[in-house]
Amino acid sequence: MKDKIAKREAKIGIVGLGYVGLPMAIEIAKAGFDVIGIDVDAKKVKLINAGKSFIEDVPSEELESLVLTKKIKAYKTYPVCNQCDIINICVPTPFTDTKDPDISYIIDSGKEIAKHLKPGQLIVLRSTTFPETTEKILLPILEKSGLKVGKDFYLSYAPERIDPGNKAFTTKTTPVVLSGVTKTCTEFTKLFYSTFVDEVFAVSSPRVAEMAKLLENIFRSVNIALVNELALMCERMGGIDVWEVVHAAGTKPFGFMSFYPGPGIGGHCILVDPYYLSWKAREYDFHSNFIELAAQTNENMPFKVIDKFYEIMAKKGVPLARANILILGVAFKRNVGDTRNSPAIKVMELLSDKVKRIYYNDPYVPTLKILNKRYKSVALNRELLQKVDCVLILTDHAKYDYELILKNADLILDTRNAIKQREHPHLYTLGYQPI
Ligand SMILES: NC(=O)c1ccc[n+]([C@@H]2O[C@H](COP(=O)([O-])OP(=O)(O)OC[C@H]3O[C@@H](n4cnc5c(N)ncnc54)[C@H](O)[C@@H]3O)[C@@H](O)[C@H]2O)c1
Repeated sequence: MKDKIAKREAKIGIVGLGYVGLPMAIEIAKAGFDVIGIDVDAKKVKLINAGKSFIEDVPSEELESLVLTKKIKAYKTYPVCNQCDIINICVPTPFTDTKDPDISYIIDSGKEIAKHLKPGQLIVLRSTTFPETTEKILLPILEKSGLKVGKDFYLSYAPERIDPGNKAFTTKTTPVVLSGVTKTCTEFTKLFYSTFVDEVFAVSSPRVAEMAKLLENIFRSVNIALVNELALMCERMGGIDVWEVVHAAGTKPFGFMSFYPGPGIGGHCILVDPYYLSWKAREYDFHSNFIELAAQTNENMPFKVIDKFYEIMAKKGVPLARANILILGVAFKRNVGDTRNSPAIKVMELLSDKVKRIYYNDPYVPTLKILNKRYKSVALNRELLQKVDCVLILTDHAKYDYELILKNADLILDTRNAIKQREHPHLYTLGYQPI
């Protein structure tokens, strides 16, 4: 294994070619390895093999050149994984409707890999999940093959930390925490990851790495919840602008980190991961009140946005049933097209039978289906801004012309502090109530 890694002769498998898997495939191919991708989504496989990227951070030109030089090839079935020396699992880990962890994708991919497992292979789980998944769930599935970990094959956990849209920290420049089930598993994983990531940090067990990943994301959830609570408090008190407060506190060079309020949290991680840990903790009669309280506060935010919207519409005297509204930004965060668990979608759902018509614009999301209704992103121009009764800024994409919006809209509810102005007659900002 060591020799194959050093000579870049190891063949690398990536199972799950989404936001995590595709950028990783690119980095590994750029480091000199041949990459075999496996994804059950036939459409993605076809796009990748045609050199067409569907992830904003991955330019099609880069993918195309790696496909043309045969450094990356994608497949929709698993038999090909027995050609690989190292297989990285990057499948989704969502939650169910009742917010229990859904690790069925890890189980399904583990079973498929087990069917083709061959001696000498290293399997690395990258999906975010609760402690003990690697050792107590994935390992027994793989050992059903008859092969033994640490002796016949190797298994590790190395959680992905990528932040889509972040130009400063990429797959390559974000350190990777990892641990193998055995020392040799750790050693091989460290060696391999060091070929395409600038810094790797080995810990004592996969369960430490699993917990560390959850801590990182729960840290964000708890701090966002705190600042969301503060935003609502500032509104109640009046005359205190939460955005100015965070900015001021942020001047402290130590012991403080700025987090910002908003219409709620979304995506595949910050909203979901806290539930993975609180669910697991209950198995040990441990109730993580703190984590659940943060989740509850954040999930309440779309409802708070609606309350504020009703209030300002009432002030303006527009009956809801006759209101045309425009939602700006439906992705869960700025400058990306990912709408999974987006608070903007929650807001649209809540308003869908309350107002006359909802328009939306998102430069990254051309169409959207909400409660069985299909929406199309409309062109954002002066005519539209003047036509609607209220504009709700739910995701502050950098591409928006906020001056145009402020100049032409009659009423704006800005939940992201995208428009820095205050005391403007048309503008209401989440977290600020003038006195
Ligand atoms: N998106 C992020 O910003 C991010 C960051 C860090 C960690 N993560 C974690 O990484 C994991 C993957 O997230 P993602 O955002 O890349 O998800 P994604 O949905 O973008 O991609 C996952 C891919 O796996 C494929 N897939 C599903 N089941 C499969 C199976 N049985 N075999 C093969 N392919 C299968 C899907 O078709 C999809 O293309 C999750 O655990 C997530 O929590 C995500």
